[in-house]
Parts: sequence; C-alpha cells; structure tokens
Amino acid sequence: MKSEQLSVAEQAAITSGSDFWHSTPVERAEIPAIILTDGPHGVRLQADSGDMLAGRPATCFPPAVASASTWDPELLRRMGEALGDECRAMDVAVLLGPGINLKRSPLGGRNFEYFSEDPLLAGVLATAWVTGLQSKDVGASLKHFAVNSQETDRMRVSADLDERTLRELYLRAFHRVVTQARPWTVMCAYNKINGVYASQHHWLLTEVLRDEWGYGGVVVSDWGAVADRVAAVAAGLDLTMPGPDDAGDSALVVAVEDGHLDPALLSRAAGRVRTLIERAAARQPGGYDAEAHHALAREIAGRAIVLLKNDGALLPLPAAVDSAGSSPQSVRSIAVLGEFARTPRYQGGGSSQITPTMLDDALTEITAATSATVRFAPGYRVDGPASHSTAAGEDAAGTDLLDAAVELARTSDVALVFAGSAFETEGADRDGIDLPAAHRELIERVAAVNPRTVVVLSNGAVLRTAPWDSHVAAIVEGWLLGQAGGGAIADVLFGRVNPSGRLAETIPCKLADHPSYLDFPGEHGHVRYGEGIHVGYRGFDAREQEVAYPFGFGLSYTTFEYSQAPPWPRTRASRCGSLSPTPAAATAAKWSRCT
Ligand code: BGC
Repeated sequence: MKSEQLSVAEQAAITSGSDFWHSTPVERAEIPAIILTDGPHGVRLQADSGDMLAGRPATCFPPAVASASTWDPELLRRMGEALGDECRAMDVAVLLGPGINLKRSPLGGRNFEYFSEDPLLAGVLATAWVTGLQSKDVGASLKHFAVNSQETDRMRVSADLDERTLRELYLRAFHRVVTQARPWTVMCAYNKINGVYASQHHWLLTEVLRDEWGYGGVVVSDWGAVADRVAAVAAGLDLTMPGPDDAGDSALVVAVEDGHLDPALLSRAAGRVRTLIERAAARQPGGYDAEAHHALAREIAGRAIVLLKNDGALLPLPAAVDSAGSSPQSVRSIAVLGEFARTPRYQGGGSSQITPTMLDDALTEITAATSATVRFAPGYRVDGPASHSTAAGEDAAGTDLLDAAVELARTSDVALVFAGSAFETEGADRDGIDLPAAHRELIERVAAVNPRTVVVLSNGAVLRTAPWDSHVAAIVEGWLLGQAGGGAIADVLFGRVNPSGRLAETIPCKLADHPSYLDFPGEHGHVRYGEGIHVGYRGFDAREQEVAYPFGFGLSYTTFEYSQAPPWPRTRASRCGSLSPTPAAATAAKWSRCT
C-alpha cells in the first residue's frame, strides 16, 4: 500500500462500500477492498451472489441470549477467538457484532441477538468477545449504537429518553466495550435518538464517542442507515454501508467544493477507513478445526442452559439401567415429545442466520446418552410463525399428533416435552410472550398423565411460564443454543454437565407486569422510554413486583445448605430470596410466584 494522498473524490469513494459486503478499493494508492460481514454468533459469508441468506458453512455458536446466561467472560473470549479463526479462514476483515443493545422489552424481535436487560453484564461479556476476536487481527463492529431496542419501525422511530437514562443504561455497555476492548468499528443504529438519526447524531458520534470516550476507530453505518451522507460525515460517521453510493459520493465532493462540508472532516473519515483497511490487510490467512469449534459450541451451550425448576431432584436422569432393568430412579423408559427434539430451534432469523457446519438434535443425543428405552412423538407440527396460533387439537391431524404423544407419556417413566417459541427474527417484534397454543396444550396434557414431566424450552426471548410451570416437575430453559445445542441438552439432562446458567433477563409473571409494557413499541414515529432507568429487574424491584423467575436465577444439581449464618440485613434483594439466609436446599426452591 502506498502512502499517497487521496483526492477528494477518492476520499468520498472510500467512505462508502463497493457492494454489499466490501469496502471500496483505490487502485492508484494500492488500497484493497476488505470484507465486512455478519456476525455475531457465527460467520455469515454470502456463498452465492444471488441468495443473500445462503452463507458458507460456519460454526453456529449459541446466540447471545444463551451465551449471556453463562455469565462467563472467559467462554465469550474463547468464542471470539474461534470466530476470529473462522474469519481468517474466510478472508473476513470485520465481523459485524457483537449486538449489545439492552433488552428493554421481552417483545424485542432481536432479543436473541442481545445479551441482557443489564448493561454491566452485557458490557463485560461483549468486552471479552471483542478482545477474543480482535486477538486474531479481525475487527469487531459493536452494534447498534445506540438505543436500538425494538424492531417496530426500526428505520425511523425516535427513541425518546432523558440523558440520565441514556447514559446510565443505554450507553453504559457501549462505554465499557469501547474503552476496554477498543473495537475496530462501531456500527450506528437505524433509529433516531430524541429526534435525530443515530447516523447524523453529532453529540453521540463525536462528542460522546470520540471526545469523551476517546474512540479512535471507524464508525460504520448499519446497512442502509444513512439518508444524508454529508450530514453523516459532519456528525462523525466514517463508512456508509452497503454500496455503491455514487450519489452520496458526489454529494460529498460537491459539499466540500461549495464549502458546506469542512474538507478536514471528509479527509479524517477517509483516513480512518484507510487505517482500518491497512490494519486488516496485515493479518495472516488461517484455518480452523470444525470439530473443535463444534465442541466449543457444545461447551458454551451446556453452560448456558438454565435449570428453572427441579422438584424432587428429578434431574439428572440416570444414564444407565442396571441388569435387572431398573435404574437408580427407575427410569427404564423415556418419552421424548415435541418436534423441537427432532427439528431443533437453534438460532433466530435475519442477518445473523448461519449455515451450520453440522447440527445436533436432542432426540439423537438423548438416545445415545441412555440405556433406557427412548420413544419419540412429535406432538405438534413445526410450520413457522403460524404454529404460534395453531392448537394441536384444532384439526384431525393435530389431534392425532397430540393424542399419540400423551399416550407415550402415560406409558413411560419420564416425559421430556420439548416446547418453545416458534419464531424470533430481526425486522419484527414479537406479539406476545406465551408459548404457542399447541405447545401449551401438549405440556398440560402430558403433565396430567405423567407426574415426572420435564419441559425443555427453546426460545430466543423470555416466555411466560405461568400457569403451566406449577404442573410440571422440572423446567430446563434451553434458549437458542446454536448448532451443538442438542448434545448440550443431553449433557444437562443426564448430568454430564451440572447446569450453571443464570438468567440474564427477568421472566415476568405476565407481559403487562413488565416495566416497558405501556410504552412499547410507541406510535407515530416515537417511542417514549417512560420507565426511564427502571429497565428490567430495576423496574420489578423498585415496584416490589412479583416475577416468575428473577434476573440471576438458576438452579444446579448441587445442594447448598447454610448454617450458623450471621444475621442478614433484610433488604429488597433478600425478599426475592437470592440472598436469603434461610437454611434451604437450593434445589427445593419454589420460585414461580405467579398466580
Ligand atoms: C442489521 C445489522 C447487520 C446488517 C448487515 C442490518 O439490517 O441491522 O445488524 O449487521 O444488516 O447484514
């Protein structure tokens, strides 16, 4: 690469993409193009120019909804490193992630891509992920800056909030990652903040990000987030994606020539993009071991699973049946029920959708894990979003599926019911937090014939567990676990992994209890963040609101007993029980307080 000065036209060209995933090369100055692609829980490199969604095979690690439940920055760092290796193998310079927006509402369509309702947890985990990725000389793109907590009207809605809420909640994780991990790029959001597009927000992109936080990297736009290139560069945006954007390039040149844009601002933006490209060009190509990455995906998934309930220590199930045909808990036959056991839900829809290198399903893994007799019935159909509203018994075929599953449950020692949300995707918020009717019906009817019913959930955002949770013995919150999730679920069910996941978001008794409920998703182009700083558990705690399962909750197979504990000050936290000194075994805790 030469160190030649770029002309104004070249500076304008380099500050937009040349196509969907490449920056613009400048041959005269020997500046190559680099690839920027999604992210965040895998490398989605478009394989075929005609099909946006078909990516080259890559490891689908657990999406953030799951990895956050590990509460383990070390695991996130290792995931980042593995992603870095895959990027090098595919010549990717910048991976578009992590997504660290706060889960303001359980309805958020991209909650599965985001870490938490708590900015400290999100910030710590994302810092580790970025550090791991960038240790491989691959850049991160911290997104979506900022206040992008809903999909409804996402390209233009104005998130209206006060400065304290903005700084203490919605910018806090960004501040941590920017100052501690120095991501190569930060991606601005689509939405407006208090009436100004994030891509044109001088206070956000320059005064806060650069002047206060000392950020020296590139600010890239979300794909299609820039309406006015001149205003964006003036505000502090460097790279507009995707491209080409000939009209925008020309507008920049004209604005410099007629004095509407300070040439130093364009030159600085172009200089930052050039530095990014030079940095990326210095990395060495690499390769990766797909089996080893699959094993890492399984390890993270196993640590992400949250055991919500385990009455009578039903779990873990014994793996072996002795020669007399009985196992320690007389589990000789297991009914595996629910199509999700065979056809896993392991990631959400949209730009983060990965083509996995391999895919485990729970049914196969359970069958391999035990010498008990395993029988399967699908119980319901998986037919996309419609299954949200389809009750299994609504038609003859559905009734047959349901009846067959119930019969299997009745004649088995243990029933494992796989249920969850049908659909979560970028571009649309959810319309509720209930399980699909068919799944609820399956759980209720199975629980009525088998007291040893375990529900295994697959979902990208919290689901309401009331009232069915009081009818089942155990609940395993399995989120969306990535391509190795099937094996990870078997690991937890049979005790090869002691569940240690903890909730990164509160499970409310019902949607209307949630602090965001009255002000989500807004109307007429505005969403008022009316709950202010009382996001997630902060709102439940401040209002002394009962919840199904609190932020931070999760059981394990270990029992703990407290004895001779000194008197404990009774605080709000102890009211919830998490700090309670009562000498109770953790596994016996009865959490769901919803009526
Ligand atoms: C999403 C980003 C993504 C980009 C590129 C946008 O629609 O909001 O998260 O990185 O597309 O696919």
